[in-house]
Amino acid sequence: MARVSESATLTAVAPAPEAVPGGPHPASVDVRHTDCLALLRSLGDKSVDLIVTDPAYSGMNNHMRFGHGRIVGRYADPANPRWFEEFRDDPEMFLALLSECRRVLRDDRHIYVMFDSFSLLSLGALMRECFDVKCVIVWDKVHLGMGHYFRRRHETIVFASKGRRKLSRRDLTDVWAVPRLRRAAYPTQKPVALFDRMLDASAEPGFLVCDPFAGSGSSAVSALRHGCRFVGADVSERAVALTIQRCTAITHGEPDPLEERHERS
Ligand SMILES: C[S@@+](CC[C@H](N)C(=O)[O-])C[C@H]1O[C@@H](n2cnc3c(N)ncnc32)[C@H](O)[C@@H]1O
Repeated sequence: MARVSESATLTAVAPAPEAVPGGPHPASVDVRHTDCLALLRSLGDKSVDLIVTDPAYSGMNNHMRFGHGRIVGRYADPANPRWFEEFRDDPEMFLALLSECRRVLRDDRHIYVMFDSFSLLSLGALMRECFDVKCVIVWDKVHLGMGHYFRRRHETIVFASKGRRKLSRRDLTDVWAVPRLRRAAYPTQKPVALFDRMLDASAEPGFLVCDPFAGSGSSAVSALRHGCRFVGADVSERAVALTIQRCTAITHGEPDPLEERHERS
């Protein structure tokens, strides 16, 4: 049974090994209603096996000077359900985040960090200060998105390692065509299939997967489906509630309520 308790953190622990592929490893989800750095600082050195994350960058949005757009609504209004709080992503803060990621990651393990095109140029190089950057993966969203000049159809994922670790296969390419969600329940919700690519390449059953910007929990769903454990955080209470809702469904062998809803719409 999934157990949800609310104290200093909001935590769901969902042991249901029989519902999870990958054998005897007990699945567990620990998602906290807290800041990314607070989460990471609470974790032990070398305690995490894989980091996959999609940070809430502020750079692109400040640069674009979003106003009252049709897509995001009133930008940066805390009462706007179509947007969320952003991580202050100046280089100092971003390096603090990456340093904590490095501290908690075990040796010989992988990290995937998603970037929009603005943040890739302004912050992406900092990944080299903490990790061995192996390549930049292009996520081809298949469908057109917004954009005032060339319409955006891709985002990037910087793939890096701490120490040496091979991918599970040698035939994987660095362009991933995964259709974006058209009417997602949560702003910037990513397809679980995107995280599945990362976990297929870099996870083993029983691994502890960490996402300090969990959002609606797509990475957590992928972790459970790979027989992994998950620890993550989000400053949005709604995001944490959605993650718990999805993980509870998965551990009970039910369909993912958010992607199910998407497929029906
Ligand atoms: C790009 S979204 C992640 C979307 C997620 N990958 C999904 O598929 O739903 C970034 C998330 O970071 C959260 N966030 C913003 N600032 C944060 C912070 N300082 N610490 C933790 N989470 C934060 C936002 O609330 C938002 O849910």
